[in-house]
Amino acid sequence: MKLTVVGGGSTYTPELVDGFARLRDTLPIEELVLMDPAEDRLALVGGLSRRIFDRQAHPGRITTTTDLDRAVDGADAVLLQLRVGGQAAREQDETWPLECGCVGQETTGAGGLAKALRTVPVVLDIADRVRRRNPHAWIIDFTNPVGIVTRALLQAGHKAVGLCNVAIGLQRKFAALLSVEAAEIHLDHVGLNHLTWETAVRLGGPEGEDVLPHLLGEYGDAIAADLRLPRPLLDTLGVVPSYYLRYYYAHDDVVRELRTKPSRAAEVAEMERRLLALYADPALDEKPELLAQRGGAFYSEAAVDLAAALLGGGGTPYQVVNTYNRGTLPFLPDDAVIEVQAAVGAKGASPLPVQPVNPLHAGLIANVTAYEDLALQAALHGGRDRVFRALLSHPLIGQYAYAETLTDRLIAHNREHLAWA
Ligand code: G6P
Ligand code: MN
Repeated sequence: MKLTVVGGGSTYTPELVDGFARLRDTLPIEELVLMDPAEDRLALVGGLSRRIFDRQAHPGRITTTTDLDRAVDGADAVLLQLRVGGQAAREQDETWPLECGCVGQETTGAGGLAKALRTVPVVLDIADRVRRRNPHAWIIDFTNPVGIVTRALLQAGHKAVGLCNVAIGLQRKFAALLSVEAAEIHLDHVGLNHLTWETAVRLGGPEGEDVLPHLLGEYGDAIAADLRLPRPLLDTLGVVPSYYLRYYYAHDDVVRELRTKPSRAAEVAEMERRLLALYADPALDEKPELLAQRGGAFYSEAAVDLAAALLGGGGTPYQVVNTYNRGTLPFLPDDAVIEVQAAVGAKGASPLPVQPVNPLHAGLIANVTAYEDLALQAALHGGRDRVFRALLSHPLIGQYAYAETLTDRLIAHNREHLAWA
């Protein structure tokens, strides 16, 4: 089996490679291709990746290239983990919205729209090139904003599934609290990428007993503290929101905090400098501790599981992925992309039925779905007016004056990445 990682020069890659090495029985990789336009990073990350494979006596080979067409040739699956404009563009996304009193974040709000506008055309171009060479390859999209990017891929007819590590992270956390194996925990997970709630925590599988009330009763304070949300809010919701919901439930608090500290992009950029220095050491042959400070915990497990299921080799039968709604959430259009549990196999992902969604969450899901649709229109067709409409529709923006100002700032800060601006 041949797997290609586009954006393989990312400092995250050793996390992925570590997972591929550990879980090689689930996903027997013969060739792993790391593709990246940044040659210097590719050399460092590729070197460490090979040493990780060697240390674990993995029989597969790791190659590196800056040439996309060569990289995807003959690949069974292509993982997209790229970041257009790098941490510098992310830093902008996290900064200018704050000047209007709106959250500055790489996937949520105005910053997320900026990222979508930069990213969708690049990803679609890559996917077209994958399809031309390799019509049967699966595309696994980690590239944010995953909901919008996956919708763009599916609408263009690509064989794509979107993936995020929020669900697998919570699964692992709940398993630890309950002292059971992670595989024992099945989450009823509903919403859109980075806008999700765990509405049940089941033991054993989709039909298993729901222990969420017990979990909230016993560990509610710890869960609330972890999410940095008030415990009474959790009690009112009766479900566990993802930490991205803090940008909604505590928006103004977050804005105040963000204004007083360095951006996450600046933190990550500094971490990346240190990580690359570590990767340069030929004696290092495992992923360094420092990598655990990035947000991508368990992302390799999720990727291995998904690739294994799509390529017909195994993997967990039900996985949380991003795919077409197709009636699963009856209040959304069929072609909305939702993040839910799905049966995953060689034919792709098909969502499991979802219990009726509490209006408390359904309203927000519907609103952000409409925003994602408008955001995709703006990303595909460009134009100030489309950007403005997307911003006006976002529940964290909404006001005419904010949407006007944010539209101008978004365009001014991203001109070099927007063909139409
Ligand atoms: C989590 C999210 C990802 C996001 C990452 C950011 O893993 O699910 O979508 O890219 O956090 O982590 P970072 O270390 O870059 O802030
Ligand atoms: Mn994510």
